[in-house]
Amino acid sequence: MTEKKEEIGKTLKEKLKPKQFVKNPINGVKYTLLVSSAKGGVGKSTVSVNLAFALQKLGLKVGILDADVYGPSLPKLLNLKDKPKSEDGKAMIPTIQYDAQCMSMGLLVDEQTPMIWRGPMVISALRTMTQKVLWKDRDVLIIDMPPGTGDTQLTFAQEIKVDGAVIVSTPQDLALLDVKRGIQMFDKTGVKILGLIDNMSFFKGDDNKIYKIFGEGGVEKTAKEFNKDFLGHIPLHQDLRNSSDNGDPLTHSQPEHEVSKIFLDIAKKIKSSFH
Ligand SMILES: Nc1ncnc2c1ncn2[C@@H]1O[C@H](COP(=O)(O)OP(=O)(O)OP(=O)(O)O)[C@@H](O)[C@H]1O
Ligand SMILES: [Mg+2]
Repeated sequence: MTEKKEEIGKTLKEKLKPKQFVKNPINGVKYTLLVSSAKGGVGKSTVSVNLAFALQKLGLKVGILDADVYGPSLPKLLNLKDKPKSEDGKAMIPTIQYDAQCMSMGLLVDEQTPMIWRGPMVISALRTMTQKVLWKDRDVLIIDMPPGTGDTQLTFAQEIKVDGAVIVSTPQDLALLDVKRGIQMFDKTGVKILGLIDNMSFFKGDDNKIYKIFGEGGVEKTAKEFNKDFLGHIPLHQDLRNSSDNGDPLTHSQPEHEVSKIFLDIAKKIKSSFH
């Protein structure tokens, strides 16, 4: 009887074990880094591209994958014009800009075409962009994630070999509420969070006064609460927004800019956690 009970116990334990997913590596890439936040509009895409060129400044060969299938930003942020080419009609060659290899849904469809897709089609597009793109010789691939904790996040957590994630947030409570959900999702699915970045942290006026428009300390506090590293404060700065709109990220166009230096510091911390 006891033996039977033990047997049933064992089977149940086996069933309740978290599923072991087979995770596909992205070929041609040594380190895969997600830039994420469950919240929309907090600066994930801005941080992705500026971090990418800060890492490039540190001597790494970078790739950038825009995983926002519904709202791709990369073509605008990097002024990408060339559509990816294919030699065999199956695998795509990434578009190159400023020595970075780039891929985005925005390169495959017309800029103003809305993507009216159900989840399975998004998952299929992500599989294509990770498995059917000829990423070559990249030290790091930065993946710009869409907002939310939906199909895209799950696809990366369960199917694709991801080495780390950074979480971007702005300091106000409303953003942090979503961000906490995002942190727990990665923790639950076993994606290693390298740390949190506080974006639009402060604004320095012409009077040199510091204005904390969205509050203070919230992101650091959240990092502590979830036992994560805090990676740095990025100010709200017009030059950052301008460079995005001009299609040439600040860390690439003005690497000596005070804000670029902050990105460089964060990039150093991130680089030190690569194996
Ligand atoms: N630190 C900053 N200083 C000035 N402007 C910023 C900063 N961070 C982001 N922005 C601007 O805020 C807007 C939203 O940023 P971005 O598109 O990077 O956010 P996102 O989180 O990727 O949005 P989404 O959730 O829609 O993907 C952009 O116009 C961007 O230029
Ligand atoms: Mg974005």
